[in-house]
Amino acid sequence: PGGEVEDETEFSYETLGKKGPAKRGTLKEDWKMCGTGKMQSPIDIRDKNVVVTYKLGSLRSHYLPSNTTMKNRGHDIMLKFKGGNQGFGIIIGNTKYKLQQLHWHSPSEHTINGKRFALEAHLVHESKNGKYAVVAFLYNVGAPDAFLLSLDRHLKRITDTHEGEANVGSIDPKKISFESKQYYRYSGSLTAPPCSENVLWSISRQIRTVTSQQVKLLRVAVHDASNTNARPLQPINKRVVYLQTK
Ligand code: MLT
Ligand code: ZN
Repeated sequence: PGGEVEDETEFSYETLGKKGPAKRGTLKEDWKMCGTGKMQSPIDIRDKNVVVTYKLGSLRSHYLPSNTTMKNRGHDIMLKFKGGNQGFGIIIGNTKYKLQQLHWHSPSEHTINGKRFALEAHLVHESKNGKYAVVAFLYNVGAPDAFLLSLDRHLKRITDTHEGEANVGSIDPKKISFESKQYYRYSGSLTAPPCSENVLWSISRQIRTVTSQQVKLLRVAVHDASNTNARPLQPINKRVVYLQTK
């Protein structure tokens, strides 16, 4: 409970499907939060409602190269980091979160001022006591994304086999560079079951670019009838979204 679901064939993104987004909270006892939670993700971020702050500081990442595998979870492609090194991750406040995995949603799950993007990458980090910190990057269609280019060969292979976990070898997470000093911060949930509300979201304000072929490569392998793996927007309720500005 609280952990992530590896086999995502247990739910779907089909709006009216029996296992679709509106039904998730009823599919399993452990997934209740998907239906009843008040701090769910994703959300629409409205610039006119954010609280600007200078106090969060820039995101400090402490990454080291790590062995990785690529897995087709049925609804997304996930890059799993196998390194167990100390200091391998991100520090927020006084909490250290270790980098676990990276996966992609298309189109984006979060929207900004109502605008949805072509792609959203989620860098999932976990603390010793089971709290998550997800760093998200949003992409418009444009120039190729260099990091995805470096995975091209593996993405093509996983697309062909439609299954399994493939060795990718050593990847330096620093290559998914963390340039942006401006980001949105709010408390939310995993966007997939069990929708646990123990996620600190950091969404980079700087929008990146990706080619439509790269988005397609990430899409083709995931054979969901709805042709999306973005959860519908959730109510923000009483939450505050901060914008860290330098
Ligand atoms: C999320 O972004 O919350 C994920 O899609 C959950 C997961 O990694 O399974
Ligand atoms: Zn995600």
